Amino acid sequence: MEKGNVYFSDNGYQELTDYLKNNQNFSKIFVLVDSNTSEHCLPPFLQKVGILKDYELIEIEPGEDNKNIHTVVGIWDTLTELGADRKSLLINLGGGVLTDMGGFVASTFKRGMKFINVPTSLLSMVDASTGGKTGIDLGNLKNQIGVFSLPEMVIVSSEFLSTLEARQMRSGLAEMIKHGLIADKYHWDRLNDLDNLDLSSLDSLIKQSVTVKIKVVTEDPTEQGLRKILNFGHTIGHAVETFYMDTDKMLFHGEAIAIGMIAEAYLSTLKTGFEMEDADKVKKVILEYFPKTEIPKEDFKAILDLTKHDKKNVSGVISFSLLEDIGSCAYDCYALPDEIEDALAYYME
Ligand code: GLY
Repeated sequence: MEKGNVYFSDNGYQELTDYLKNNQNFSKIFVLVDSNTSEHCLPPFLQKVGILKDYELIEIEPGEDNKNIHTVVGIWDTLTELGADRKSLLINLGGGVLTDMGGFVASTFKRGMKFINVPTSLLSMVDASTGGKTGIDLGNLKNQIGVFSLPEMVIVSSEFLSTLEARQMRSGLAEMIKHGLIADKYHWDRLNDLDNLDLSSLDSLIKQSVTVKIKVVTEDPTEQGLRKILNFGHTIGHAVETFYMDTDKMLFHGEAIAIGMIAEAYLSTLKTGFEMEDADKVKKVILEYFPKTEIPKEDFKAILDLTKHDKKNVSGVISFSLLEDIGSCAYDCYALPDEIEDALAYYME
């Protein structure tokens, strides 16, 4: 078994069962949940992994607001009180906030204990739980603190999605659309064929997105180059997400990335020769899934300022990953402040 492998559905539960059987020397096993996954996901999970009887449950509050150092300290304290050590295992059962934070906690506790991700949201299945990015927010700046650290394995089971609210589902869909746009035209074509998109095709679409992500992160695990393409839509998307964070226009991650992808498709036409006709198609398809968010012109400057915190930036130059074609993406592209504002205006047109 290779570290970081992703396994699906019943095969995944079998892999996890075998893993636990073959590694009985864990000093303790901890399961990290939030109050939602404790209620909706823990019972079916335990049923599938019958071998897991002797474990300690750690429950945290759900939501991005809690993805911070205070929650992390709380989990470290609880692990300490419950006698965790380097030979313990942490199983993260939850969405992207929980798997990012649980991975960070495990990777830093006593310089590192093993962890397994069991994502329960679409966003976490297709993106957050795989590839080894772990971390927390710093104030309102997203994922500013963290380490690259691979889980032992990731178990993806779409049965958890039956209790997920529609807005959360859509949030995950944005990252799937991104995977198609940056690296897999066929995946994009399937996703934008709205009439034929149903739950029965979801499993294979999830698998395809995970395949794109794994291919990229295997080539460039620590984002020295290629992995930056996974950030298409994220330079502007993260800035918009942060700007509206504690307002009544609060956006889910994928909703902000949808905006970012439209704006950055426009920037692509300026920087990589991406066809305007394709940018318009990207905009049309994304707006069919994601209703337009009103971004008044007077907010553009503040959003622009927030792009300066993007983790891809070096020496203060704002860096983008931009489409060259549908299914192909360049990285280390730079845009001027006026061009970024024009890109937001294109989204609003
Ligand atoms: N979410 C982007 C990455 O894992 O690199």
